[in-house]
Amino acid sequence: MSNSATDPGYLRYQYADADKLRLRHQTHALYSEQATSFLDWLMPTIDPQPGALVLDVGCGSGAYHPLLAKYNPRIVAIDASQGMLDVVQQQAQQQTLPVQSMRAFAEALPLRDAACDRVMGNHMLYHVADQLAALREMRRVLKPSGRVILATNAADSGQRLIDVHLEIARTAGYTPLDERFDRGFSLNHLDLVREVFPNAERRIYHDAFLFPTPEPALAYYASGVIDMIAERPADGSHRARLMPLFEKRVQEIIEREGVFRVPKSSGCFVAEI
Ligand SMILES: C[S@@+](CC[C@H](N)C(=O)[O-])C[C@H]1O[C@@H](n2cnc3c(N)ncnc32)[C@H](O)[C@@H]1O
Repeated sequence: MSNSATDPGYLRYQYADADKLRLRHQTHALYSEQATSFLDWLMPTIDPQPGALVLDVGCGSGAYHPLLAKYNPRIVAIDASQGMLDVVQQQAQQQTLPVQSMRAFAEALPLRDAACDRVMGNHMLYHVADQLAALREMRRVLKPSGRVILATNAADSGQRLIDVHLEIARTAGYTPLDERFDRGFSLNHLDLVREVFPNAERRIYHDAFLFPTPEPALAYYASGVIDMIAERPADGSHRARLMPLFEKRVQEIIEREGVFRVPKSSGCFVAEI
């Protein structure tokens, strides 16, 4: 089966700009069962000292940077997508954040050995084909006593939403891809992380989406999972066919259960060297 999570064409489409990722961050902020956000939960694990150098690998739209700035670190943010870096730079200018950004890949980090106090690779290793190479690079640039933080999802995170996709995509005559980005690198991958960081630990954050109406679930679905079909039409015509089916199915669930609850546990690996 093809793996769209590491397919360069798919990654360019998904992350050309920050719109889809931002929509997902907003959905987590508005429709999560947990009162404490995942980012707030993760901050004490990152916990940089003032002046510490924090490397944010696969920084996306820079969602962590405003919270991190309260610790007064220096942040170097890298991403494969220039569209993401444009947003990161704009945010840093508008909010006067201590962020330097550059386009680079996790497998070849543009930093000297032992330069960083913290290295984060959050919700991104499932996009990297050679994960061991990326982990080794993260270790190379960490100072002795530095800390690596690798956030990702539980293997079954979002499965209930994917199950609706599998059902409606088949109904519409498509071959859905029963894959999840996070299955390529989920909280089940502790052994892989320990190949490079032998004392890595796993920390789990239990959460779920609670969708009271179909609309926010539909917007979230349209930002990613909807494209998990084999031979995705280049004209995007599958979207107009799948969205009403998804909305109808979720509406039925809400009428029956009162809310569309989608478990979405996540967490991180953390290690010091
Ligand atoms: C799901 S987003 C996560 C963004 C951010 N870390 C967060 O948690 O909000 C994944 C990001 O990884 C980037 N990415 C994918 N493959 C990469 C690679 N090999 N090297 C660097 N960045 C990569 C994508 O461009 C995207 O911005």
